[in-house]
Amino acid sequence: MCGIIGMVGEKYRLEALIDGLKKLEYRGYDSAGVAYVENGSLVLRKVRGRINQLIESMGEELKKNIRVGIAHTRWATHGEPNEINAHPQTDCTGKLAVVHNGIIENYRELREELLSRGHVFVSETDTEVISHLVEENFEEDLLEAVRAAVRSLDGAYAIAVSHAERPEELVVARKGSPLVVGKGQGLGLLASDITPMLSYTRDVIFLSDGEIARIRGSNIEIYDLEGNRVEKKALHVDWDETDAKKSGYKHFMLKEIMEEPEAVRRSLTNRITSNRRVVFEELELVAPAIASARKVMVVACGTSYHAGLVFKYFLERFSDLDVEVDVASEFRYRDIHVDKNTLVIAISQSGETADTLQGVRLAKRKGGTVIAVCNVVGSTLTRESDATILMMAGPEIGVAATKTYVSQLVVLYLLAMYMTAKKSVWREEFDEILYQLAHIPEVFEGLLSRSEEICKLAKKYQNYHHFMYIGRGLGVPTAMEGALKLKEISYINATAYQAGELKHGPIALLDEKFPVFAIAPRDRLFQKMKSNIMESVARGAPIISLGTEGDRELLEVSHDTLWVPKIDENLYPLVMAPVIQLFAYHVSDLRGLDPDKPRNLAKSVTVE
Ligand code: M6R
Repeated sequence: MCGIIGMVGEKYRLEALIDGLKKLEYRGYDSAGVAYVENGSLVLRKVRGRINQLIESMGEELKKNIRVGIAHTRWATHGEPNEINAHPQTDCTGKLAVVHNGIIENYRELREELLSRGHVFVSETDTEVISHLVEENFEEDLLEAVRAAVRSLDGAYAIAVSHAERPEELVVARKGSPLVVGKGQGLGLLASDITPMLSYTRDVIFLSDGEIARIRGSNIEIYDLEGNRVEKKALHVDWDETDAKKSGYKHFMLKEIMEEPEAVRRSLTNRITSNRRVVFEELELVAPAIASARKVMVVACGTSYHAGLVFKYFLERFSDLDVEVDVASEFRYRDIHVDKNTLVIAISQSGETADTLQGVRLAKRKGGTVIAVCNVVGSTLTRESDATILMMAGPEIGVAATKTYVSQLVVLYLLAMYMTAKKSVWREEFDEILYQLAHIPEVFEGLLSRSEEICKLAKKYQNYHHFMYIGRGLGVPTAMEGALKLKEISYINATAYQAGELKHGPIALLDEKFPVFAIAPRDRLFQKMKSNIMESVARGAPIISLGTEGDRELLEVSHDTLWVPKIDENLYPLVMAPVIQLFAYHVSDLRGLDPDKPRNLAKSVTVE
């Protein structure tokens, strides 16, 4: 969702700035723009559409050497995606440029006030009020002008401001939307996330809410809203630049699915002891809160929410804890009952999802203890939670969550066992589960080698308009995740139901044009699942079943089958994940779509 990049300092090629912007493409956008200073004037270029169109329209201009520039990918909120509404937004003088991620809630009032004071607006964006506010406050000091301007803003923002009269500096400010700053060789850098910074540095500073920074080459000064200097340490990021490249794969999504064995291996590293116990050194401080917890609540969105459902089924099975799981956008507006005996598990790959962050803030205000399960070191969620478990999946560029989902599951299985042990005793079933978990990377390697076979099935089913995913028990989150993956990248209407619910309504939809994708491992609910599959067969629906290798009973009731190896029944959601992901991937690719950039979606959902 909206990507911001800025670079200032020694001369650099304008195309380096655009290269950086391209690395933010994955966040999702519908227009793009850049502003830079040349001979004391601000130059502005914007397009509706992709960054490649911006590149084409700029041609040779990209070879210019500049000292300061900001660029942006916009995911439209206020005003349709077009050139005028694209960022950067300027002021009445045409000397000042602002890029913004977030939503200014009081922009209407501010706009009225600014109009009454004679400002002329050209766009429909909320961002333009920031440009005019900075303009009003600018005399000598750009930092002071930005500081004065942001004090009038309600809502969320990460902004970068450039002024033609101040070609040696950029000023940035943050409240509620992510912003990272860092130093390259003679260059100061800023971006919405660390991916474009990796070509220059791995030591970055995550700004906190209410912080403003002035970047002059490699000199970065940070202040609070009162103007006090803030000293912050840079955080070392362990990611490699090649992690964020396609490395020969057709799509990031495919590459990231293929990276799952490694992602899982990293998630497991140092977390299982030689005598088969779970350790989380990062949870030491919250261990007493875990031991005394009477209630567990999970808050998350999308795929992370599905991981939370697996956690619920698993933890409730082995402990006497009740686990409530809610999507963050509901949780934050519910009358939730949280107190000091409530443990809240916030799951978020990016650590920047606005709804999840608000849910966490609400839970903390009410006295709960928050444990984050997150993939991005230094992200807002990690800074606001009482403790963080890092998933260690490595950067995920494809909009569809894939390797981060399996890493989440691994970490959550471990967390559930850790919590159960802290609450009571070590369950003997855990020995076997841990043993099998430790061997999951090899199981994944075997599963991923079946990509071609899954592709063949995808070919057969690619032209259906609807899919019904069904499952029971631990198969329900897999069904939900399978349907989400398919719909978000192939635009097929895929819906998920608890298999037992079919007969209460959805079965009316089924006929020979409405395939059922049944999650049917050999677990305690297999026979019940089989009955639901037969009910669907009786309505003429084509059946694809995902089950346990060699299951003849399943074979008999299905038109097509996909297999995973036999494993402890609790781990089926984990081993089934690559299969549902590959199926969705191939359908999308066969339909000629780009699974890395699904329409209307953003990787990091930083607005409500
Ligand atoms: O970064 P988060 O895990 O908080 O993101 C939550 C959802 O937006 C995300 O899981 C989304 O559903 C996936 N990209 C779908 O593949």
